[in-house]
Amino acid sequence: MKINLANIKKAQKLLNKSECVAIPTETVYGLAGNAYSDIACKKIYKLKKRPKNNPLIVHYLNNQILKKDCKFNSDFLKLYKKFCPGPITFILDLKKNSKISKIVTNKKNTLAVRFPKHPITRNLLKNINFPLAAPSANLSSKVSSVSSDDVRDDFGKKVKYILEGGKSSIGLESTIIDIRKKPKILRLGGLEISAIKKILNKKINIHKNSSKISSPGQFKLHYSPGIPIRLNVKQIKKKEAYLSIKKLKQNKQNFYFLSKSGNLKEAAKNLYSTLRKIKKDKYKSIAVCKIPNKGLGKTINDRLKRASKF
Ligand code: TXA
Ligand code: MG
Repeated sequence: MKINLANIKKAQKLLNKSECVAIPTETVYGLAGNAYSDIACKKIYKLKKRPKNNPLIVHYLNNQILKKDCKFNSDFLKLYKKFCPGPITFILDLKKNSKISKIVTNKKNTLAVRFPKHPITRNLLKNINFPLAAPSANLSSKVSSVSSDDVRDDFGKKVKYILEGGKSSIGLESTIIDIRKKPKILRLGGLEISAIKKILNKKINIHKNSSKISSPGQFKLHYSPGIPIRLNVKQIKKKEAYLSIKKLKQNKQNFYFLSKSGNLKEAAKNLYSTLRKIKKDKYKSIAVCKIPNKGLGKTINDRLKRASKF
């Protein structure tokens, strides 16, 4: 995608004034503000209607800049070298003299940190002198945005500016790993756990117990298109939309598919936009076929499961 410097300048100016701007990333769009500014961060919570106890994730250009705010260890550096910039978020310890707003962390002493790969957002980060707090650009508990139109649908004119960056290439949020002690996955995401395991070469725990919520991305109802979803469906009910992983031979008006050939990467990229489309097409419920539980299919199933707790 061509980089439009005038657009980036516009976003930069607003961010400098503690305004919020939607930014494109390779995972999903983010609703960004200056992570050092209480005013900007308060605006993010208000716009998203996000509970105050759900901390924000912060985006940096590189680990040199992050050094001012967080402590590193060798596992972090190994994963950083291999996967950053990219779809992985690290939970790190904050340094005492960090300038990160207390609003970002809900006064915790840890910070969720990501290095986005999208060239437009990287260019923006190069041109500002603060990191960007940017949770996914959607209303709290709803489906994330993977295009500027999605952001517009959710927020209308309430968001001062949307930096155009095309459709997000991954389409699922980042994988979150708490890397401070024994590595623990807090949220499945766009980077497969097997790839992380290969680099760290040690046991990686996966946080499953949702009664002990350490990352509110683990809240039960999340990623919801706003209508009920049934999973692993074999028999479709009348008037339901049917979502399959690949294009079926039979093609009815209420049939939707995630990828022509059933490719999981493509399915991940199309998941949220297809859920939004079905809602827009006025269906009142969605029946989803069984999705293979491997690779990115695991993340797709995780999101659908949470979205089905309607
Ligand atoms: O791909 C992504 O991660 C996207 C793009 C925009 O970067 N962002 C995103 O943000 O998905 P959000 O806020 O929707 O999800 C971040 C998750 C939240 O569930 C939040 O609870 C968790 O990260 N989180 C933030 N700070 C944390 C912390 N200190 N400890 C544990 N979890 C944390
Ligand atoms: Mg989110």
